[in-house]
Amino acid sequence: MSAIVQLENGITTFRRGEKLFQLEFISPTAIRFYETGRKESYAIAKAPSPSQEVRRGEEEGENALFFGDLSVHIHKSGLLSVRYKNIPVFREKPYQAQNKESDLSAEKEGHLAKDKETYTVGFGIENNRPVYGLGDKAGPLDKRGYDFINWNSDYPIPHNEAFKSLYKSIPFFSMFGEACSVGVFVDNTFKTRFDFNKQDKDGIVVESCGGVLDVYLFFGSLPNVIAEYTRLVGGSALPPRWALGAQQSRWSYGDAQEVEEVIAKYKESDIPLSAVYLDIAYMDEFKDFTVDEKRFPNISSWLKKVNQEGIHIVPIIDAGVKAETVYPVYEEGLSINAFCKDNGEVYHNEVWPGDSVFPAFNSSYTRLWWSERVADFLDLGFSGVWNDMNEPASFNGPIPNSVDMGGKTHAEIHNVYGHLMSEATYLGFLKAGKRPYVITRAAYAGSAKFAGTWTGDNYSSYDHIRMMLPQLCGLSLSGYSYVGVDIGGFSGDATCELLVRFAQASLFNPFFRNHSACDTRSQEPYAFDEETTRRYRDIVLTRYELIPYLYDLLFLHQKTGISVIRPLIYNFPKDPNVVNENTEIMLGDNLLLAPALFPGQAKRSVYFPCGFINYFNGMRYGPGYHLIDCGLDEIPLFVKEGSLTPLANKGTHDTDFGKELRLLWTGGKAFAYHYEDEGDGLGYLNGEYNLYLFEIDEEGHLTITTLNEGMVGKYEKITVDHLGNDLE
Ligand code: NOJ
Repeated sequence: MSAIVQLENGITTFRRGEKLFQLEFISPTAIRFYETGRKESYAIAKAPSPSQEVRRGEEEGENALFFGDLSVHIHKSGLLSVRYKNIPVFREKPYQAQNKESDLSAEKEGHLAKDKETYTVGFGIENNRPVYGLGDKAGPLDKRGYDFINWNSDYPIPHNEAFKSLYKSIPFFSMFGEACSVGVFVDNTFKTRFDFNKQDKDGIVVESCGGVLDVYLFFGSLPNVIAEYTRLVGGSALPPRWALGAQQSRWSYGDAQEVEEVIAKYKESDIPLSAVYLDIAYMDEFKDFTVDEKRFPNISSWLKKVNQEGIHIVPIIDAGVKAETVYPVYEEGLSINAFCKDNGEVYHNEVWPGDSVFPAFNSSYTRLWWSERVADFLDLGFSGVWNDMNEPASFNGPIPNSVDMGGKTHAEIHNVYGHLMSEATYLGFLKAGKRPYVITRAAYAGSAKFAGTWTGDNYSSYDHIRMMLPQLCGLSLSGYSYVGVDIGGFSGDATCELLVRFAQASLFNPFFRNHSACDTRSQEPYAFDEETTRRYRDIVLTRYELIPYLYDLLFLHQKTGISVIRPLIYNFPKDPNVVNENTEIMLGDNLLLAPALFPGQAKRSVYFPCGFINYFNGMRYGPGYHLIDCGLDEIPLFVKEGSLTPLANKGTHDTDFGKELRLLWTGGKAFAYHYEDEGDGLGYLNGEYNLYLFEIDEEGHLTITTLNEGMVGKYEKITVDHLGNDLE
């Protein structure tokens, strides 16, 4: 008996056991299958329409559907398998709920709680390929052999690769194949478990505690698979250009004078600085949308003054709202029914302000109200908003699953709470007429279009420098490009050497912010010794040279879904040596960073998949392993041979790098796209930008084509800087 019930308007309905499923071809390289009736998605802004040109046929005695590069077999069991350009690339396995461990003795001794959930919906996939993605999860780049849980969690202890959950839940991963990778997006916000070849050595199991199965599959090269998913859910919004500069934070700069001291000391140390963050102490008793007037008198005129010095101020806004009569945000929220409820009563828990309530962000009405609060607050002169504690974190025990978060339960909304808060905050920027600059700790698939993110409370340790590279790559392979870490480490005390190593390893991080916790030693680059200050300055100045290229990549990411920072496998899919390369990272196609990862390290092995050239001294390295100097004064930064990279001039202190552009050319025929806009504001959304294509031939002749001319260009000089004359 055929599993297919009908094919109508491009949608195939088929039977799987007792249930009816539907299948759509959403492009020539992507399908979606879901239990009938499933409609809404938190991730996807606009549902794709199914192609009408699907052909139905038979292959090997089974039902098959054909469209574009794909043929999808619907087996009698209702399970699917897919061929891409006639190569078998995907096959479902029958799903069986996995066994749960029941021995709780480790937990009694204080170890992390075991997963005791009952999973109700799931599916299995045959797999023997490397697995990448799943957002911010700890552990190696290739996730095979591990299981993970999507349940946004704030664990204030040093994270390690045994952690199954962190702050974000991004249910997207890719199974890598040289001929064809398969991207899998399981659009389910309930607690979800991913077992990558752990219990089943030949397969993957994905299972959720609620909802229904709704799966998107993408086929093609790894970059294409990620790009198509990214375009579907929305990649990182283009940040203002100043947000690519060096940023400084601490929990907490206590008053305006302390912030001014930070700015002054950066200046004295001749280290460029673009933004300072205000952690919770700036508020009046931790009340959102308030400013403690004793610590920050006349905030508006103070912000004006600081902004004039080129410094942007980004305040934190937490999810928990202080429950206190006479506090307008609480009272107003109560009067419009904007908070989460339990059994009909407003739900209370505890966060920084003490007794707190939580906006019911699943209600569009609550989001609208919140966006107005944000817009008003931005009008004071703030440049961004940092959303925190939005898993949501709660100090007085977990929030019960039954709490109503705006028409839906906590069990369903938990993993999108930060996503919805980010959306509300983002809307606030649009209301205020500003280019959104939001940073969020908790996120779901598609949150990137509202907010950038960082990896939360890391530790001042070498372990966490090492962990950062695969973790940020995991995010970037999940459609998230404006990402970073707390440089220097959040908890614990950084040393001179550790801070330098953290900053070197963060050179490519689009979000470049030094941040530390309240009970730690001062971690600003000038708080150590002169050498450390000098080294940090050198790193930041190198970073400022890269800003044009970073901005280009972020623009292209937004337009096309390409990743900004990348593991080597993204650029070199044919090279088996980089399948699980966890110690090197690339920025775009051209730049490679191989940071030192251990204390006292003077040399390290670096693998180059093709010829690369040292950025600083022009030394050339052929493909293969090389022993490279990585003493404290060296930044192991390399440029791919035969590339062209738009950069700012050496010594630039400003994220708005001026009227000169430098094209770093490493020989051969090469090209680069370059994006130019005002650096801030919303004009670029109306086409107010220039997009250039630079092409260079073997002789070094440069041709410039303007692909979009939407503003008066500012460049007076474009120079070609040839690197690699002095070959080894
Ligand atoms: C937790 C955040 O992860 C951290 O960055 C922040 O400093 C503290 N909350 C205090 O607001």
